[in-house]
Amino acid sequence: MSEKPRLMIPAAELRSRVQALAGEIAPTLSTSEQPLFVGVLKGCTLFMSDLVRALHEDVEIDFISISSYGDTREPSGVVKIVKDLETDIEGRDVVIVEDIVDTGLTLNFLRTTMLQRLPRSLRTVTLLDKSARRLVPVPLEFRGFDIPDVFVLGYGMDWQGKLRNLEDLFCVSDLSVLIEDPQAVSPALFGLSE
Ligand code: IMP
Ligand code: MG
Repeated sequence: MSEKPRLMIPAAELRSRVQALAGEIAPTLSTSEQPLFVGVLKGCTLFMSDLVRALHEDVEIDFISISSYGDTREPSGVVKIVKDLETDIEGRDVVIVEDIVDTGLTLNFLRTTMLQRLPRSLRTVTLLDKSARRLVPVPLEFRGFDIPDVFVLGYGMDWQGKLRNLEDLFCVSDLSVLIEDPQAVSPALFGLSE
């Protein structure tokens, strides 16, 4: 019998860490220039909405979508832009908002692409850092949690488009339970920490 997803970080703990992260970021933001927060779709969405609400100052937001290794755990290293920014970032203070940095290939691509557009500054905040899996060293200014090499889902992160809107973060060390029957685990996970 394969192992079911386990509760890893409950919603309340995510909330308080995101508040603390906002507290770390806020004093580093320029008071004269409006910063631009760039969310990396789609995994960033829940984290980003909580983070910008916790900042209590005026920030502009935009989104970028890239194709990554998607449905498998193996990094392809092939990353391309599926939806680009609508904002010209030249001369702007930009903060990239990521759900999780794993191999670092995605963030490395994003940073290289954005630096070519000459922002005034470029920094990254990630909710989760799977630092043990890093293949390319990449600067990471703010992080919520350092996590071990397990597959995580919920709070924006998905398994093949599923289970993104779980309010808690879950982990699976054995993906076979999701491969066999993703619907079977879903009712048990929603509302688990209520
Ligand atoms: P990287 O390029 O290997 O750093 O991968 C970064 C992207 O892969 C993240 O933004 C996620 O979209 C996805 N990813 C990596 N690990 C996980 C995971 O454990 N669960 C869900 N998505 C993941
Ligand atoms: Mg992502």
